[in-house]
Amino acid sequence: MTKPNISRRTVLAAGAGLAGLPFSGPLRANPHRASTGSPLPAKGAVVIASANGLRTVAKAYQEVQGGTRPVSAAIQGVAIVEADPNDISVGYGGLPNEQGVVQLDAACMDGIAHNAGSVACIENIMHPAQVAEIVMDHTDHVNLVGQGAKDFALSYGFKEENLLTDRARKIWLKWRASHSKDDDWLSPAGDEIKNADFERLYGTIHCSVLSASGDVGCTTTTSGLSFKIPGRIGDSPLIGCGLFCDNEVGSAGATGRGESAIHSGGSWLVVERMRSGDTPEEACLYALKRVVSQVKRQRTWQPRLWSEKENRPSFNLSFYAIRKDGLFGSARMIRGGDNPTYSVCDSKGARLVKGPVLYES
Ligand code: GLY
Repeated sequence: MTKPNISRRTVLAAGAGLAGLPFSGPLRANPHRASTGSPLPAKGAVVIASANGLRTVAKAYQEVQGGTRPVSAAIQGVAIVEADPNDISVGYGGLPNEQGVVQLDAACMDGIAHNAGSVACIENIMHPAQVAEIVMDHTDHVNLVGQGAKDFALSYGFKEENLLTDRARKIWLKWRASHSKDDDWLSPAGDEIKNADFERLYGTIHCSVLSASGDVGCTTTTSGLSFKIPGRIGDSPLIGCGLFCDNEVGSAGATGRGESAIHSGGSWLVVERMRSGDTPEEACLYALKRVVSQVKRQRTWQPRLWSEKENRPSFNLSFYAIRKDGLFGSARMIRGGDNPTYSVCDSKGARLVKGPVLYES
């Protein structure tokens, strides 16, 4: 087959041109319009991330203000958390699958060129979002998985590393010994690992970036559901599910139960709701309500997705969004304590924010 004669340089140049096209969706009135008619963010660049991304938003904001394209700024921001052994839901230190192997998923999307890349089930590579960026920029594919993704990363000079920290291994050993009373594993002695430590986690970090010139990009990266069946991938490496952006509208992403973000096409839905005029917060709440209506049907085949006692889904899920005019917002399914629900950075600096929830408890 003949390969299209398009170099990366051509694509990037075309992307830069696209950024100047007039906006075609019904954004609400924005006084900050470029002479091309394209809306510009009212208050400059904005970066949003999940609550574990306070350092991420600060780094990504610094990068995008320095001229780095939004998708790359997001990827540099999440690299801090991918390398942090204390975040047990992302990268190094992430909890492993049921066989004790850390398998990572990540994707990125560039609004300028409307291009995307992803890797799933990749092992021993600490920065999967950076590998996804290379898939996006240097191939005509979107998704690479497993050994193919790892070989691809190694061919670009990524180092193989052991990502299973001692703490994650101890949590996994305790989970393995505790999750059934009817097997041959004896619980490890001592109370170093508490039962709450091995509750199954979805975790994840999402980061969306809007530049001062109105371009968007995003990334989502995760170790996925802890103790998952080997080979399981969640929403994070799936475009439209764990992340989506469109330079005409804005950017969105998800953290939490990946299967629900997949079943709802959640991040795509958030962007499309913003295209129709929703604020980011309204769009995130809309997507969560869609998930609730779907779970009511799903509980017929998976009762544990619904808490009868609380009369709500039994899992958490959050969406995050930035609209092209600079408005941002997020919404979470269940508050789950008094903690902030997302991170943001703009001209006022990096901060944690408590967003709206569908269920307080
Ligand atoms: N949202 C991450 C996952 O479900 O894998």
